[in-house]
Amino acid sequence: MDYEILFQPDDKKVKVRSQTNVLDASRRAGVRIPTRCGGKAGCLMCKIMVQGEEKEHCSPPELKEVRKLGTSMIEQGYRLACQTKITNHLKVIIPEDPLKAAIRKQLEAARNRDTDDFI
Ligand code: FES
Repeated sequence: MDYEILFQPDDKKVKVRSQTNVLDASRRAGVRIPTRCGGKAGCLMCKIMVQGEEKEHCSPPELKEVRKLGTSMIEQGYRLACQTKITNHLKVIIPEDPLKAAIRKQLEAARNRDTDDFI
């Protein structure tokens, strides 16, 4: 059975077969999730967020993933894309890179300052 997976904030969707992992689905959708270990739960670079009821739409974290991420991050909704298998329609949030987030905030603040100068 095919399920639709939605990647936010890119707002890209793709249909994949049940049990496809989120990392493979992201590649099919053209969404970039960083990875260095090739999907072996070794690099922790493929963190994604699955929130609320969506957690029921994917495989529960296995011991390997819990050991890597820790229960606190799992409770917050973090998962490893390479270890998360799709079992229903799913919405995934790709957390923004901290450096990119800091740059974006500075650019927004500068833009707002420019706008305020004209008012
Ligand atoms: S790809 Fe390295 S932990 Fe998932």
